[in-house]
Amino acid sequence: MATSASFQKIGVVGYGHLGQYLVERILKDGAALGLTLAFVWNRNFDKLKGLVPDELILGDLSSFAERRCDVIVEVCHPQIVKEFGLHFLSKSHLMVGSPSALSDPALNQKLRQVAQQYGRTLYVPSGALWGGQDIQRLNDSGALKALFIRMSKHPSCFRLTGDVLSDWTEEEGRRVLFRGSVAELCPLAPNNVNTMAAAAVAAGTLGFTGVQGEIVSDTALSEYHVVEVEVTGPGGFSVHTVRRNPAKLGAVTGSATYNSFWNSLLVCKGHGGRVYLC
Ligand SMILES: NC(=O)c1ccc[n+]([C@@H]2O[C@H](COP(=O)([O-])OP(=O)(O)OC[C@H]3O[C@@H](n4cnc5c(N)ncnc54)[C@H](O)[C@@H]3O)[C@@H](O)[C@H]2O)c1
Repeated sequence: MATSASFQKIGVVGYGHLGQYLVERILKDGAALGLTLAFVWNRNFDKLKGLVPDELILGDLSSFAERRCDVIVEVCHPQIVKEFGLHFLSKSHLMVGSPSALSDPALNQKLRQVAQQYGRTLYVPSGALWGGQDIQRLNDSGALKALFIRMSKHPSCFRLTGDVLSDWTEEEGRRVLFRGSVAELCPLAPNNVNTMAAAAVAAGTLGFTGVQGEIVSDTALSEYHVVEVEVTGPGGFSVHTVRRNPAKLGAVTGSATYNSFWNSLLVCKGHGGRVYLC
């Protein structure tokens, strides 16, 4: 077991499904793994009362630096990455649960600059992405030619900014909602395309404008989300993976993604001033 001085202090920003899961796991399993909670923040303060020890509740997010964290985990909304990401990263390593925020090229560049300037790591959890490290390796060797990701879910699992899905019926079957670059898809479905955003980070040479994606509504998918990844390399090389991610009706986040986030958090020990897929 780690000594208290060597404990890694974690701040959790957001207390929705993922935030609650991570807080519970840190409180339950953290001590044995050398992790401890520094604070938990949620937009709605009342949601934390009685569930998180009072001394760990952060009332005002602007005062996060007083809690001296090693890692801040954002599991909230891309807007919070936009508003606080640079401040967080100037003080701690940051794991962004909402990497669709990085589709904004100006924010993406500034976060990279601040990471480098302060020697902090911007961690992007692989979430529901299968093979992210392989994509990154192909990318880093200059051999990645194209990347396409299709995410198919039951219509109740989508949170779209427009009203394209307001008229769905249980009998309608499959409907392609959008197809285009991940840069175009992120503002349309910021809560549904984080897996694509993680892929666009892994495929840095193609980036958010080069990686292509498609989101599909399918009423047959009442028990799982499907994530398909098609990777193209040189000389006829290709990989096609299909991941079935069990998910409850209406859930934005697949069940296996919770454990995936926990495993990602365990990797966040500091990897220098850069972006790191974990
Ligand atoms: N990287 C991935 O693979 C992946 C997978 C699942 C979810 N996510 C993302 O992680 C984040 C959390 O997911 P979740 O399943 O816990 O969602 P959730 O909806 O259960 O919880 C989100 C929490 O953030 C709060 N919130 C929402 N908008 C906010 C805003 N603008 N400002 C402040 N607080 C706000 C909500 O009140 C809620 O407490 C979301 O952005 C989601 O898109 C990423």
